Amino acid sequence: MKTGKVLVTGGAGYIGSHIVRELNDARRDLRIVDDLSQGHRAAVGDTPLTVAGFADAEFLDGGLDGVDYLVHMAAFCEVGESMNAPAKYYANNLTASLALLEAARRAGVRGIVFSSTAAVYGEPESTPIDEDHPQRPTNPYGETKLAFERALRWYHEAHGLRSVALRYFNAAGAHPDGSIGEDHAPETHLIPRLLRATEQGAEPMSIFGNDYETRDGTCVRDYVHVCDLARAHVRALDALAEERVGAEAFNLGNGEGFSVLEVVDHVERVTGRRPATTSAPRRAGDPATLVASSERIARQLGWSAGHPELGEIIETAWRWYRAHPSGYS
Ligand code: UFG
Repeated sequence: MKTGKVLVTGGAGYIGSHIVRELNDARRDLRIVDDLSQGHRAAVGDTPLTVAGFADAEFLDGGLDGVDYLVHMAAFCEVGESMNAPAKYYANNLTASLALLEAARRAGVRGIVFSSTAAVYGEPESTPIDEDHPQRPTNPYGETKLAFERALRWYHEAHGLRSVALRYFNAAGAHPDGSIGEDHAPETHLIPRLLRATEQGAEPMSIFGNDYETRDGTCVRDYVHVCDLARAHVRALDALAEERVGAEAFNLGNGEGFSVLEVVDHVERVTGRRPATTSAPRRAGDPATLVASSERIARQLGWSAGHPELGEIIETAWRWYRAHPSGYS
């Protein structure tokens, strides 16, 4: 399938760099805009990269010329931080994204793939969560992502601009070849933190909350391999190019939940070392359980996970961590 010129915002970040790798492997014509505030130049090889904010006036003035499809990844994505700094999330994830959307419309972009999140659902009423489940975010991160999804629907209604919002559950793992992986500063995510906590003398990792209504009291999440997320973007671009979708949202998860303590056990099994942990209060904004039904994307876009096992997901993250204990630096 030909998808013309693709622009990836945030393509040098953790998930973005895996999408860029997948699109390059699929021989798509692509370029990246990333301000490198969280991304890494080393993560994208020789893919053309403009270092700029995606909504900078200088970038929007011409940066979308000739672009056929947009993959809009760039965002702040920390649930905990969003509870303390809602304005930061509204400004970037919503206001700046709307400026990009309007510029995309004016430039004649034909379709958009948007990085959305399980955080749009809030505390689920039933599990697994499908796309029709009520959306009541419990944090500004989820709220701003949902608001942009809704803007995409209205843009389709008003202007015929097609879009696919992909609601990621918990992205995890790294490319199996060990060359790209997760490197956030500070690192807030569970699996990389646990891998660090296996080091001798490492600070114990705080387990946020042990009194949730789950099987062992800790939060349950659906961990999905970052390369499986990446492959879904190629499927979404093809569906847009073939005009098989209008403005749709799809979940992306494996349909199986693991508690924080179960992830600790898996990390021990993979690494042969027990990570040091300690109990801590709940983290604000965290729902107890988030597990996806991904049947809709399986049915409509033919997506399925290539690396569904948590052990394998952690193995790839461990491979990356051992080869790059300080990340890209
Ligand atoms: N956790 C700990 N200790 C830590 C870090 C995390 O106990 O040091 C717990 C969290 O409380 C949560 C689970 O581990 O229960 C996973 O936490 P992450 O921070 O790794 O991921 P989140 O579930 O908070 O969020 C991630 C992405 C979001 C996305 C969400 C969707 O960061 O962008 O998954 O489920 F919206």
